[in-house]
Amino acid sequence: MNARTAAESLTIMSELVLPGHTNPFDNLLGGQLMYWMDIAAAICAVRHSGMPSMTVSVDNLSFKTQVKRGSTVTIEAKVTRAFTSSMEIHIQAWTAYLDHTARELSNEAYFTFVALDAEGKPAKVPELIPETEQEKILYQGAMRRRQLRLILSGKMKADDAQELKEIFK
Ligand SMILES: CC(C)(COP(=O)(O)OP(=O)(O)OC[C@H]1O[C@@H](n2cnc3c(N)ncnc32)[C@H](O)[C@@H]1OP(=O)(O)O)[C@@H](O)C(=O)NCCC(=O)NCCS
Repeated sequence: MNARTAAESLTIMSELVLPGHTNPFDNLLGGQLMYWMDIAAAICAVRHSGMPSMTVSVDNLSFKTQVKRGSTVTIEAKVTRAFTSSMEIHIQAWTAYLDHTARELSNEAYFTFVALDAEGKPAKVPELIPETEQEKILYQGAMRRRQLRLILSGKMKADDAQELKEIFK
């Protein structure tokens, strides 16, 4: 199984915020944005793994700015690291309003996807080769974030989280 770069599965998706996507304040609904993020992450995970893939967790999704009706939202999804069957995917949502002269980062999150084989069991995914400086930083941090989310979901004992412990030394 050949290792792959993040550029090979980079997924960029743009959406226009229409009335059906908004809340009573005329801002984008949080759930709608999460849906678009999940779709972009799913496409990215399938491109990296070459297999059907499922969302298994989403970390710290905060809403920094209001996104007005008429804005465009561009979602960028990039694999930061692949483990055995799981892949961490960094999502950034960029918003531009009407004239599109400037865009701002409105949301960021890490999604974890698991690739599944024909029987629906977790399947081995290709390794990720980080290339740019930013990709190398995200790759390094991915093991700590993985350990933290596995502890929080009750799948790992805090005592076993070696990389996470290192940052408190
Ligand atoms: C994805 C699924 C098949 C994995 O099954 P499982 O019994 O947890 O399998 P495992 O324990 O072997 O874990 C598989 C991988 O998921 C990772 N994982 C499991 N739970 C996780 C969590 N909460 N956060 C991050 N990673 C997690 C494991 O670390 C493992 O990664 P690795 O193979 O890279 O080491 C199962 O959890 C599932 O079906 N979940 C529902 C997914 C779904 O329906 N998603 C749509 C959202 S509604």
